[in-house]
Amino acid sequence: MSEQKLRSQQWFGKTGKDGFIYRAWMKNQGIPDDYFQGKPVIGICNTWSELTPCNAHFRELAEFVKKGVIEAGGFPVEFPVMSLGETLIKPTAMLYRNLASMDVEESIRANPIDGVVLMCGCDKTTPSLVMGACSVDLPSLVISGGPMMKGKFKGKEIGTSDVWRFAEAYKLGELSQAEFIEAEACMARTPGHCAVMGTASTMATMVEALGLSLPQNAAIPAADVRRKVLAQHSGRRIVEMVKEDLKLSKVLTREAFENAIRVNAATGGSTNFVIHLLAIAGRIGVELDLNDFDKFSKQIPLLANIQPSGEHFMEDLYYAGGLPALMNQMKEFLHTGIITVNGKTVGENIANTPIYDSKIISTMENPFKPDSGIAVVKGNLAPNGAVVKPSAASPELYKHRGKAVVFENIEDYHARIDLPDLDIDSTSVMVLKNVGPKGYPGMAEVGNMGIPKKLLEKGVKDMVRISDGRMSGTGFGTVVLHVSPESAAGGPLNWVQNGDFIALDLDNRSIHWEVSDEELEARKLAQPFQAQAHIRGYVGLFIDRVSQAHEGADFDFLKGGSGSIVTRDSH
Ligand code: FES
Ligand code: MG
Repeated sequence: MSEQKLRSQQWFGKTGKDGFIYRAWMKNQGIPDDYFQGKPVIGICNTWSELTPCNAHFRELAEFVKKGVIEAGGFPVEFPVMSLGETLIKPTAMLYRNLASMDVEESIRANPIDGVVLMCGCDKTTPSLVMGACSVDLPSLVISGGPMMKGKFKGKEIGTSDVWRFAEAYKLGELSQAEFIEAEACMARTPGHCAVMGTASTMATMVEALGLSLPQNAAIPAADVRRKVLAQHSGRRIVEMVKEDLKLSKVLTREAFENAIRVNAATGGSTNFVIHLLAIAGRIGVELDLNDFDKFSKQIPLLANIQPSGEHFMEDLYYAGGLPALMNQMKEFLHTGIITVNGKTVGENIANTPIYDSKIISTMENPFKPDSGIAVVKGNLAPNGAVVKPSAASPELYKHRGKAVVFENIEDYHARIDLPDLDIDSTSVMVLKNVGPKGYPGMAEVGNMGIPKKLLEKGVKDMVRISDGRMSGTGFGTVVLHVSPESAAGGPLNWVQNGDFIALDLDNRSIHWEVSDEELEARKLAQPFQAQAHIRGYVGLFIDRVSQAHEGADFDFLKGGSGSIVTRDSH
């Protein structure tokens, strides 16, 4: 591409008053004039924030991206966007994923940027950046912040999935308050995002599988200096991508999405993968639906022995050969001829990548677990589908029929779950309503609701749980999630009552609610559906315009893109 054609030259290449304004104020940062004369301008979209602890090391990491950009002859400009931290934001970071994506999209389009490096880490910071960038469709590349090193507590390796175990042990009095506090420090002992295959690692894996990052992006720990080297290489490469006009839409083909679904299955990725990948596909204009997740997960066993589906951690995956070695194992199920951001094909990127530890990355011949991926179940309780992660569920509950114990909302659940006289046993099916996209609002990670104390005391470890909410990627259990349509959109879930029988059959991908049509009509007459009252501001917009889980929970008006052209100047 000739330098004149650079998008940024529509700003910096201008003569007269406009050009003066575009350049002069930038020069107050000490930038020499030749930087404005045709160097590719690389936006570094940074989600650094001290309120997003998983991304708190991003200012330093960005410096390595800049080094690479400058080495390759580009002009790096770092800019902040809304950063979503999973642990602090209430009521859930997911409520703001679409808002952050709008920030990213408009920030990229409105500014003199030729290519973008997206700095992603904590869960929602990946989809929000990729979604926003897709709607502009410039050359773009992701560098993830990397996972934390695994923790050590009382001689045992720990990570985020232990939070749920510690919480139960604490509830049962097996762990004291002081031990609980000590465990906190033992778990989060280095920079980075969750060390297990939670949503952040799932997203870092997803971008590598999609071909949106350089190889090994998924698993190099944040604290390992090779992450910095990867950032520097990413900075170098994005400049080349601008010259090659290697736009996102050239990488994000239907085949790339199919690859990502299969790799997610083999790695035991989070159920949140479904929601985010659907939303990304919607932005880039690739047809993808919920059934594709089931269809392309089939035949793929679980190869990675990483928590929560397995025992180990992201750093172990890296030492064992990383994602390229895992993808190499399953290459006959991947589209290997498609291009990735480094200009090479998937096949070239994964060639000659041995497995160094088959405990961590198993082979197709001898996989860690036969069941993997995302199972999509349908039935009269979820006409548009619901998802289950078989590798994190209990095989003895794959087929289960039980009596519903219904909680109308999260407050109702908290108020009653530990009441001694709650009519519940290990065969019950726990049902939670009003935690979906509109209902919570924001579709919180409460679907793996904790088991009642009195059953924990009897040693019950898992029960069938059903909701229109999500589950943390670090969570586990026989949990039916993302029921669509949700109860707050008038879905069937809204009319489930205590004592109704519900049958889950994972092998047949069904979820059946034993209620007659007459009974359902009578319930609807007795208690007509009432949409939520209008709320002001962003939350009101969210409730009005968010799509259902099976469509990715994006805003209806954000689907697709508006490209990168802006025709008017500002003065
Ligand atoms: Fe940020 Fe888990 S809390 S990745
Ligand atoms: Mg999460």
